[in-house]
Amino acid sequence: MKTWMAMAVSAVLIGIGAAQVLAHGDGAPQPVDTTGLKPLGEDWVPENPYRGDAKAIEIGARGYNSNCARCHGLDVKSGGMAPDLRAVEPNAEGDSWFVARVRGGAMRGDAVKMPPFEGLLSQEAVWAIKSYVDAQPD
Ligand code: HEC
Repeated sequence: MKTWMAMAVSAVLIGIGAAQVLAHGDGAPQPVDTTGLKPLGEDWVPENPYRGDAKAIEIGARGYNSNCARCHGLDVKSGGMAPDLRAVEPNAEGDSWFVARVRGGAMRGDAVKMPPFEGLLSQEAVWAIKSYVDAQPD
């Protein structure tokens, strides 16, 4: 009986593990549905237009979890694999740094440290993600 229980429990745990791997995907960028946010047009605005907006934070949380968390950490708490994004300031300077990085990614020599998200995430999606990051306590 005990063995059976242990096997059942580990089967469930393995199942949960597999589901989490699937949920985090294979690393392909995940589209972010920005319905409900004010559209911003083609040209990138210089500063986060959604900072503090509850809807943007909610959408940004989803965008962050499906595209950034695997490297930058759950709840924007870095596990050391990539910089802690809470250190990026919630002001115009931090915003332009953030957007440049997200659009361009990061290379070290030939190694892709972070893939570029240009053309994959809309301006609205990137600012929503920044709004979520800005809303995290340090
Ligand atoms: C494959 C892992 C990976 C993914 C996915 C990833 N990043 Fe990064 N990111 C990195 C690494 C590594 C660095 C540091 C690069 C360097 O050392 O120059 C970085 C740097 C950054 C920086 C600059 C931070 C600083 O303090 O200099 C920002 C901003 C950033 N990432 C935002 C994001 C956002 C937003 C997403 C999701 C849309 C994302 N990243 C997805 C790995 C990743």
